[in-house]
Amino acid sequence: MQYTANSLENHWMPFTGNRDFKADPRMMVKGEGVYYWDQKGGKILDGSSGMFCTAAGHCRPEIAEAVYKQLQENDFAPPFQNGHPGAFELAQKVCRLTPDGMDHVFFTNSGSEAVDTALKIAMAYHRTRGEGQRTRFVSRERAYHGVNIGGTSLGGMVKNRETFSGVMPGVVHMRHTWLEENRFTQGQPETGAYLADDLQRIAETYGGTTIAACFVEPIAGSTGCLVPPKGYLERLREICDAHGILLVFDEVICGFGRTGKAFAAQSFDVSPDIITMAKALTNGAVPMAAVAVQDKIYETIVNAAPENAIELFHGYTYSGHPTACAAGLAALEIYEKENLFERAAELSPYFLDRVFSLQDMDAITDIRGYGMIAGIDLAPGDKPGQRGTQLQKDLFWNGLHVKFTADTGIIAPSFVAEKEHIDQMVEILRKIIGGK
Ligand SMILES: Cc1ncc(COP(=O)(O)O)c(C=O)c1O
Repeated sequence: MQYTANSLENHWMPFTGNRDFKADPRMMVKGEGVYYWDQKGGKILDGSSGMFCTAAGHCRPEIAEAVYKQLQENDFAPPFQNGHPGAFELAQKVCRLTPDGMDHVFFTNSGSEAVDTALKIAMAYHRTRGEGQRTRFVSRERAYHGVNIGGTSLGGMVKNRETFSGVMPGVVHMRHTWLEENRFTQGQPETGAYLADDLQRIAETYGGTTIAACFVEPIAGSTGCLVPPKGYLERLREICDAHGILLVFDEVICGFGRTGKAFAAQSFDVSPDIITMAKALTNGAVPMAAVAVQDKIYETIVNAAPENAIELFHGYTYSGHPTACAAGLAALEIYEKENLFERAAELSPYFLDRVFSLQDMDAITDIRGYGMIAGIDLAPGDKPGQRGTQLQKDLFWNGLHVKFTADTGIIAPSFVAEKEHIDQMVEILRKIIGGK
């Protein structure tokens, strides 16, 4: 092995320009509340809750203590044919937050695994009901459903797909919901519900009885916060019901308060059959994700198997890991004690007004937002993504962390942020974008 002291070479960084980063590293060496600190001691306001994870702010002692205690008590329990109390307790707590009738939770370690798990649950459900011909899946352009093979296949962001052309077959994409006429709309756009009829057209083209499930992010997050037009999700629900298609909400970003309620399903008052969740489940402290399913799905699959048999041949060594469960329980307790979902709902109008105050800037071509998430599109530079990449670095060295996807910045502060933190974020954005 080649070894050079202090070399950054060995770590192959994910979704990162490795050469560019290693030439000018931006390390986050400490986190507390709504701040990070860089390797030079600079204080950085966290404008994106890391990557939409730290709803309650960084380094909460309650979570650190719960994790430490768990590691001393029981560091690992095999999750197949054995259990540990934390997983059952956390599942119960998650089910207190999910929509009615959605009382079963399967744990995974990442949003990507949650999505692939949801795909397999949908397949198993239909097969158990004698509808194994439902092998097709529908998703959407500009969607992000993680990076495993299933999620890559469902995804609709070209850079994430084009290298991996041999992904899972049988996925059909609806159009995305970005419309020119809805630029600079705060909240749900008035127009665009008709785009849900793409699902109806797909059902008519391929046969509704061949489709297992339709996957959507209620708010498409990673592509830059595309808020669903009014009536859009409702229409998807109707079409799914008409054809026996399962509706899956991928709430990896939306879940746990980002939209002002526990789940976007509740904010938009549309009940999916399956919800995938991750990110804020443990406040980002320990990797963990989950898939919640309607009772009919769990009961169908479980009751169909012989008494002492495994019902679903699926699971991960680290499904419901004790440390992750301890972190999840502590995080949910903080959310409840501090009414953080309500706080997110209260803070949202201020947050959105302040972010939308940037719309007079020439460099900004669109702003969208809902709850505690907003997307800002910049006019691209010479090549797509170039401007966003540079801006992310400039913001960092000027004290603000924002997650960028190409030329779109996604602002999503933690719910413990104060109004003055939001003011500071917007001031830094104005100054640095204005300087470009
Ligand atoms: C909607 C959605 N699904 C899935 C994922 C993948 O999650 P992970 O990166 O934890 O695998 C993400 C990540 O941002 C996401 O936003």
